[in-house]
Amino acid sequence: METSDTIVRTAKLFDAEEFRLQFPPLKHMVHLASCSQGALSTQLNSSLSDLTGSLTDSGAPWGLWMGEVEKLRERFARFINASTDEIAIVSSASEGAYQVASSFSWDRRPGILTSALEFPSVGHVWRAQAAQGAQVHMISDRVQALDVLEWDSAINESLSLVSAPLVSYHDGARPPLRELTDLAHEAGARMFVDAYQGAGVVPIDVKELDCDYLVTGSLKYMLGLAGVAFLYVKDGITSERSPELTGWFGRVDPFAFDPELVDYPTTARRFECGTPAVPAVYAANAGLGVLERVDQAVGYEHIMRLSEQLATGLSDLGIRMSRPADPKHRGPQVAIFDEDPAGLSEWLFERGIMTAPRGRLLRLSLHYYTTAEDIETALAALRQHQSRR
Ligand SMILES: Cc1ncc(COP(=O)(O)O)c(C=O)c1O
Repeated sequence: METSDTIVRTAKLFDAEEFRLQFPPLKHMVHLASCSQGALSTQLNSSLSDLTGSLTDSGAPWGLWMGEVEKLRERFARFINASTDEIAIVSSASEGAYQVASSFSWDRRPGILTSALEFPSVGHVWRAQAAQGAQVHMISDRVQALDVLEWDSAINESLSLVSAPLVSYHDGARPPLRELTDLAHEAGARMFVDAYQGAGVVPIDVKELDCDYLVTGSLKYMLGLAGVAFLYVKDGITSERSPELTGWFGRVDPFAFDPELVDYPTTARRFECGTPAVPAVYAANAGLGVLERVDQAVGYEHIMRLSEQLATGLSDLGIRMSRPADPKHRGPQVAIFDEDPAGLSEWLFERGIMTAPRGRLLRLSLHYYTTAEDIETALAALRQHQSRR
């Protein structure tokens, strides 16, 4: 019998209308804000009831909760083609970046190369390492940061780390990550990727990407909630320093309960710290459960098709976009310039359309649940808004 588990399994069966049935709020909402928070699924709702149910039934079922944590580790590992030993579960992308930064000594190779594409969280963590002797170098123009030649001329043997996002939070632009990774490795540096603005809808295969570290979190395109983030650490990567931010979950055996024994596992778990955010773990499992039924390449194709429809409609309306000229640098959101992005977002929200303003831009982001009709509704509202000005 067909169950909701088999809703979207293969390319041919992919159907956004059917996928979105799993998201009750989408009956009356056009959700174009997954770059901020993913839509609420039935599965997420019931995962939170499962959590409160476990408290009601069992009081303190730590074994059950730790089982959920391990299920999540396995699921995420599979999702990005990693092994479970390569995944640390942390509380935020900043924490993941900090754990990576604090494992370098910066004495022989003090450099970190980053760019204007970086989300502040991660950029701030790199800068704070100046206190430990790190030197941060920057490609400060967003358009130039999409050009591999700019990185090529800035990458050299003084660097320990090169850092770039999978997708820029600002306008969805995608730098040429695989090329940057190769350049970093040729110079003997490691590659760090912040995948927060793509993971969930942009297919990720860490083996193909060949990056050394990757962080992302659960609340946006991964359809979970705040409180869980993931740090991928490539197998075999060793640290110059042991992470100072540590705790019982960073031990070889967290349940050894020996306050004098600070031993670090060789796996990515050495970067973990205290008790994981169990409610967010339940939510993250629900989100991944929904996502893993979709063929990532097919889902992304759907998104890119809709982003073209949206961009064409916006350009017909004469609305200026912040959008890379080259399609290979485009991601799952389309950002438009406006004199008052927050005001426009509020106006659209009153008409049932969720968007995400940031700085001078209003971001419209797409997910598997976005339909061509959503795009037409948003375009019609923007046309109406224009006629008021
Ligand atoms: C690219 C990117 N990285 C990281 C974050 C969030 O970082 P953190 O989990 O440290 O809050 C965001 C949130 O908007 C983001 O867009």
